[in-house]
Amino acid sequence: MAKAKRRYVCQACGGVSTRWQGQCPDCAEWNSIVEDAPATVFSQKHNLSSGGRALEFVPLNRPTELPVRKSTGLAEFDRALGGGLVPGSAVLMGGDPGIGKSTLLLQTAATIARGGNDVVYVSGEEAAGQVRLRASRLGIADAPIRLASETSVRDILTTLGREDPPALMVIDSIQTMHSDTIEGAPGTVSQVRGCALELIRFAKEKGTVLVLVGHVTKDGSIAGPRVLEHMVDVVMSFEGERSHQYRILRALKNRFGAVDEIGVFSMETEGLEEVSNPSSLFLSGRDQALAGSAVFPALEGTRPVLVEIQALIVRLQSGATPRRAVVGWDSGRLAMLLAVLESRCGLNFSSAEVYLNIAGGYRLSDPAADLAVAGALVSALADRPLPDKSVLFGEVSLAGEIRPVAHSDLRLREAAKLGFARGFGPSDAKTGSSKLDYRGLGQLANLVDHVMGSA
Ligand code: TYD
Ligand code: MG
Repeated sequence: MAKAKRRYVCQACGGVSTRWQGQCPDCAEWNSIVEDAPATVFSQKHNLSSGGRALEFVPLNRPTELPVRKSTGLAEFDRALGGGLVPGSAVLMGGDPGIGKSTLLLQTAATIARGGNDVVYVSGEEAAGQVRLRASRLGIADAPIRLASETSVRDILTTLGREDPPALMVIDSIQTMHSDTIEGAPGTVSQVRGCALELIRFAKEKGTVLVLVGHVTKDGSIAGPRVLEHMVDVVMSFEGERSHQYRILRALKNRFGAVDEIGVFSMETEGLEEVSNPSSLFLSGRDQALAGSAVFPALEGTRPVLVEIQALIVRLQSGATPRRAVVGWDSGRLAMLLAVLESRCGLNFSSAEVYLNIAGGYRLSDPAADLAVAGALVSALADRPLPDKSVLFGEVSLAGEIRPVAHSDLRLREAAKLGFARGFGPSDAKTGSSKLDYRGLGQLANLVDHVMGSA
């Protein structure tokens, strides 16, 4: 006999609890737990060790054909995917609402359709007219995409089951899809998982590339893309600040390629444009060196991106608690660097307000940024620019040493390509064949001497 049991599922991480709670015990998200469709629990006598079909095992070294990838028509998208879309695979495209997921996928769908492939675009969020309007704005209204505004997975799969399967199917978004075999409203964990499972099964059987759009929401009102990550082959995340132009496409999981490549786009009035030289985007019109500004050759996967770090120091007269504000970097890391600069280099920031900004709305996560941030801070404190046309990189330890970081040769080569003449970094860095004048620094204090000491 099957017996039904109540369960409660977190819409952010998919964690299951036996009772409702205000905060999820698994991911610590608030107000994200909702009651889910009852799970069927079978009694012990229904065991699975008999009545099945015998498996046929195969050796690992059997020749397999490599999948033929389909280009998206956007080199930056292909790069993030590791070469293109693989037929029969499922891609999850996650991102904040309004970041440009639908725009990117409509542009991709148009390119693939123009290449003579059958492409189906199902929008559960916008009416067909709205999608058409967007397509004409993007200048792709003539592409032979088959468009539907639909939310019933049964209707979608019934229709597609009757004809030749499409080469590409975009579902925008999975959180609006609904399956009538599952209880619950669209957007709940069980609906999102159930619908995705059916669509993925279709894609695998028919060799269709399936792209699922998944919104990321902070309030947990709909199930996040995380509950689908294990079911799909590729998880992409489309990121950026809505107030800034640039967007980064990142692979978080990829069964067919590396996950550290990024694609860079800029959002223009007529759609997303590829940015093949991202460094130019983040360096904000630098003609002359300014106090408090440092350039850091960051690395995204194997791709170097030059970013500008800006620091501002304001001395306080009164004894008020000074503010520390950071945009685009970790505030804990800034506090650590300030402490190292105070205790190892004898600088005094204690009565000063410190503001740190990464230009262009970029978010830095590369630990090699320490030295460039320190350079910007020291330069701001001394009110003296860093040496002209220089880049800085290196990790700073609590002892004030500059530690080696990965791929220094790639960083220097990119800087040289963009006209930089000097590099400062760890003393035992590989400099490759770059034409830059490189100076290795052992201690953070060496940098301070360099900035404060020489003119
Ligand atoms: P959209 O693709 O609808 O985002 P998502 O599907 O991730 O929710 O993009 C929405 C934003 O992009 C919208 O605020 C307007 C902007 N946009 C442009 O700037 N240029 C364009 O050509 C288009 C189509 C959108
Ligand atoms: Mg959208």
